[in-house]
Amino acid sequence: MFVEVEICLGTTCFVLGASALQELQLPEKLRRQTKISYVRCLNVCKNADKFSKAPYARIDGEIVAEISAEKLAQILEQKIKGEKNEAN
Ligand code: FES
Repeated sequence: MFVEVEICLGTTCFVLGASALQELQLPEKLRRQTKISYVRCLNVCKNADKFSKAPYARIDGEIVAEISAEKLAQILEQKIKGEKNEAN
């Protein structure tokens, strides 16, 4: 089972940090279970309250604000660990 990650590279997200996620280096154990794609604006930034929380990603269908390499790795660790626990 893969965790689906869509990283927003729309202008707002790109300028506020997503540019650094283009060369994302995840640990091998996370990379094997993750599908990463890069998408245009997820339309979250158009909400004035949420603009400052960019960059955004969508992880398994759920919008995540202020995404960074560290935050993404933490979320992936939790999701993958959770899936393993569910399988046991
Ligand atoms: S640019 Fe990322 S949500 Fe709009």
